Amino acid sequence: MPNLDVILKEIDYALNILFESNNTDGEDNQLTDCDKIKSQRVMRVNHMGEVCAQALYRGQALTTKDDAMIEIINNMCEEEKDHLVSLNQRLSELSGRPSKLNSLWYLSSFLLGAYVGTLEKDKSYGFIYETENQVEDHLDEYSKKLPYKDLESKTILEEIKMDEIKHKNTAKNHGSTELSKFSKSLMSLTSKVMKKISYYI
Ligand SMILES: [Fe+2]
Ligand SMILES: [Fe+2]
Repeated sequence: MPNLDVILKEIDYALNILFESNNTDGEDNQLTDCDKIKSQRVMRVNHMGEVCAQALYRGQALTTKDDAMIEIINNMCEEEKDHLVSLNQRLSELSGRPSKLNSLWYLSSFLLGAYVGTLEKDKSYGFIYETENQVEDHLDEYSKKLPYKDLESKTILEEIKMDEIKHKNTAKNHGSTELSKFSKSLMSLTSKVMKKISYYI
């Protein structure tokens, strides 16, 4: 059971992730209102995904006993944070907003990550591998949903994808094992539901 200091530190971290301000220098005036709404929705889904990545990895790092894994996860978390900053800024430029349910997504992802951290090392890395693998596919899928004129958002997603591939390979290089078909399908189904909801809410 983590002590009070650790719990408070995690709460502080979560609040920072959830309530990071959307400061930006300018607004995107290149897109039509209709395109802007479409881009807002797509980028909100991506933003939600990065919030969940933070939560999953913080939870996993909290419960794993493997020091090397903690270091690897913390490094990945820093890069995921950069993704979150880019998406926050882009959302703001598009006059969009994050998902209203991010707190719920964060909590559920954190608990899942905390559970994964208790699994054997190869399975725990297997979870990272599968997560990043599905994120990679998701980025391709959602990039196509963006209005063709929104090149800025597309570039951000492309840059993020490069890091996610790196994370996937890091997990593989540390001996990840393939998750069961059932686990993979469950992860995919859960994220599909979360994405559908975040697209609008
Ligand atoms: Fe990311
Ligand atoms: Fe990642």
